[in-house]
Amino acid sequence: MLTVALPKGRIAQETLEIFEKIFGESFVFNDRKLILETPKFRFLLVRNQDVATYVFHQAADIGVVGLDTLEEQGLDVIRLLDLKKGVCRVAIGMRKGEKLDLSKPELKVATKMVNITKRYFEERAVSVDIIKLYGSIELAPLVGLADMIVDIVETGTTMKQNGLEVVEEMMTSSTYLIANKNSFIAKKDEVLDIYKKISDVIKSDA
Ligand code: PRP
Repeated sequence: MLTVALPKGRIAQETLEIFEKIFGESFVFNDRKLILETPKFRFLLVRNQDVATYVFHQAADIGVVGLDTLEEQGLDVIRLLDLKKGVCRVAIGMRKGEKLDLSKPELKVATKMVNITKRYFEERAVSVDIIKLYGSIELAPLVGLADMIVDIVETGTTMKQNGLEVVEEMMTSSTYLIANKNSFIAKKDEVLDIYKKISDVIKSDA
């Protein structure tokens, strides 16, 4: 029996559809329930930012979460497979027409991805002032809170509608299947079996 942590929303839905395709049965959470028990799997519905935490602490054996979140949190879990879903970019955005000038002193960057941002600028030996926000990041440069933002860009609509544009792409992200390190050893056959089955579905969808 494997416990699977899924992030509430579209990705959970898409992942359950993959399981439905594999096993030919329906996997549906009942109304507001956060656990779905089946003979082979126990699915948990958690916040996207909590998936790796459940897996890291082995409250779940495997999970599904974006690479951007994994990179930001840095928890020691096994990245089993790129599901090629939820593809997006982490990018630097500025007000339209503005140029990124890394030599400018005391650049202010607003983001919810503090660690990715810190690493990115440290690797380039640029000192920046990071301002942590929890959402609506695109607002920050418009009201002078920051010179630029580091944020997720999927369609680009949010930046565009707020008069911002991408000045630099930092990384590409997509959804990954992850596993707890101990589970990967103790439940190796089960983990590899589901890995293989999911991998076959992803390949056949590609
Ligand atoms: C993300 C991101 C952008 C938006 C990008 O926000 O922070 O605001 O999606 O998508 P787009 O390029 O398709 O417009 P999310 O919906 O996760 O909300 P939050 O950042 O406010 O939590």
